Amino acid sequence: MSEKPVSFRTPPWLARTGGRDWRCASAPADVRGFHAALPGYAPTPLTELPELAVESGVGRVFVKDESCRLGLPAFKALGASWAVHRTLTEWTARGDGAGPVTLVTATDGNHGRAVARMAHLLGQHAHVFVPRGVHPRAVAAIAAEHAEVTEVPGPYDEAVRRAAEAAASPGAVLVQDTAWPGYERIPGWIVEGYSTLCAEIDEQLAAEGITDGPDLVAVPVGVGSLAQAVVTHYRSHPAGHAPALLSVEPAAAACVLESLTLGAPVSVTTGETSMAGLNCGTPSSIAWPYLRDGLDAAVAVDDADSARAAARLAVLGVSSGPCGAAALAGLRATLTGAGADQRRTALGLGPSSVVVLLSTEGAAANPYSSATGH
Ligand SMILES: Cc1ncc(COP(=O)(O)O)c(C=O)c1O
Repeated sequence: MSEKPVSFRTPPWLARTGGRDWRCASAPADVRGFHAALPGYAPTPLTELPELAVESGVGRVFVKDESCRLGLPAFKALGASWAVHRTLTEWTARGDGAGPVTLVTATDGNHGRAVARMAHLLGQHAHVFVPRGVHPRAVAAIAAEHAEVTEVPGPYDEAVRRAAEAAASPGAVLVQDTAWPGYERIPGWIVEGYSTLCAEIDEQLAAEGITDGPDLVAVPVGVGSLAQAVVTHYRSHPAGHAPALLSVEPAAAACVLESLTLGAPVSVTTGETSMAGLNCGTPSSIAWPYLRDGLDAAVAVDDADSARAAARLAVLGVSSGPCGAAALAGLRATLTGAGADQRRTALGLGPSSVVVLLSTEGAAANPYSSATGH
């Protein structure tokens, strides 16, 4: 009698030592105040989900719920608002032109919509380049922010190249959320903008009686700018408790996992994924040193993992799109299946550990949510 094969599903995973001991400079202190003064600003919820703690064998699990951030259904407005503010301040100071500026960017959805929203609010123009694979409703949502939209029949990296070319015209400036050699300042401002999210988590955990921070933070990763902000935040405390930091990518676009494995930043050929915001083939050049030195582990998940995680979060009352739910999918992939004990140990997790999952978008941000039934 033939035996039924047993599948020990092992996720694509990499752990490294030393991340928790690495230190870097902190983000500027004035970002939080800038955001707090924006109309409609409020900290997004940090929701405790005890059911997930039981399922994961840890003490407490919190979800940072970015389903409504400055009126948009993803965290991206934090970076876009600060970077556009800094860019326009500099533009005006230089006397670079009397008329409106065209803010140019490439996006797989959320960033472009946030840039377009900021441009319109501030009386400027936006031109947004969208790669193939972005849901037509996400494209329409960007156009509805009064942006000119150009659809590029290629992957995200190609859309970034096209946006950079367009931004070379007079009166235009590129506001991109990824960096490459020679284009680093504005992406750096975007990363600074994301620091508000981490500052809020500190305050919210302290209000829950957790004063020395979480033990693990799981971050959905595309080019790694958000992860750079998270590493910067948790690795810039001079001493004391430092959490493990886990990056989570789609298996179809795991450029950070691949780069960490090879020890150098590399581009990967991306495939199709419902995690549209994470469908990026090249790590940001300014993020890379932070990811290389400050992350503890990287994992890749597939669309079905993320859809299951989104469904679980929905049942527990948190609206999470495929990218946002990747954080829970990554935690589950890490803590289950063959090798789970070693992965749990690598992250230093025990029964009293505090885990924070960054749910970076709500279901409304990504129409693929409805395509997968959530
Ligand atoms: C919802 C969502 N989560 C996470 C990310 C990943 O951010 P980064 O590209 O900075 O790694 C993105 C990027 O677009 C996103 O839209």
